Amino acid sequence: MSSIRNIVILTGAGVSAESGIDTFRDGGGLWEQHRVEDVATPEAFARDPDLVLRFYDMRREAIQTKQPNAAHRALAKLDAEWEGDLLIVTQNVDDLHERAGAKRVLHMHGEHLNAWCMACDERPRWIGPLIDRPACPECGEAALRPDIVWFGEMPYRMDEIFAALEQADLFVSIGTSGAVYPAAGFVRNARELGVETLELNLEPSQGTAWFDEARHGPASELVPAWVEEVLASSRT
Ligand code: OAD
Repeated sequence: MSSIRNIVILTGAGVSAESGIDTFRDGGGLWEQHRVEDVATPEAFARDPDLVLRFYDMRREAIQTKQPNAAHRALAKLDAEWEGDLLIVTQNVDDLHERAGAKRVLHMHGEHLNAWCMACDERPRWIGPLIDRPACPECGEAALRPDIVWFGEMPYRMDEIFAALEQADLFVSIGTSGAVYPAAGFVRNARELGVETLELNLEPSQGTAWFDEARHGPASELVPAWVEEVLASSRT
């Protein structure tokens, strides 16, 4: 591990689970309570915008009451202390990595605390509801939607993610089921590039066989332990 300089970390809903934010696919997860086709596609938004806006308004309100957990804090510590390249690619749309203090974070599936203006394409910071069709602070049009990548839409900043993978020595996947592409394919991209791969997840993910090493348990325990390990190895 001492030869590791550049790290790409992929996080998913499991990293925020112990902060009290529901995952998507665990028992009682969000996609058991709501149908993806009703709330998380462009077609759903076109068909019933009120339903979709209310769903995301509730989620946006809820995440603001949650706090980062030990896994977010450990990744923020790694970000602060790691001298090589580091990129935390998150599928999560909460802001708990940032609130823990992490800076090198890329939200590939968008962010609850942004809105996206369909009229002027700006993405203003947004903490309140969208259901009443507020005006965009940039252009004044009432054309704001959640800045969330829905099914059928292209995740953000894929070029940057692949560029980071090409430079990486280690790829670590934390708290994600490996069910949603393209993120689920990063482990295979990393392997093809000769990058070492590690999974930290509550249970084996769908892609667990692709990882060089997999550790299973809660993120609040596995992630701080791994961060201490990798920081210690960089000092030797
Ligand atoms: P999932 O709900 O599919 O998977 C969460 C994973 O976290 C599962 O493998 C759990 O075993 C694991 N997990 C649960 N609690 C954990 C804990 N305390 N510590 C460690 N791991 C834990 O969530 P994602 O993989 O993030 O996309 O889902 C990917 C995408 O699917 C999301 O970004 C979202 C969703 O549809 C969009 O909304 C575009």
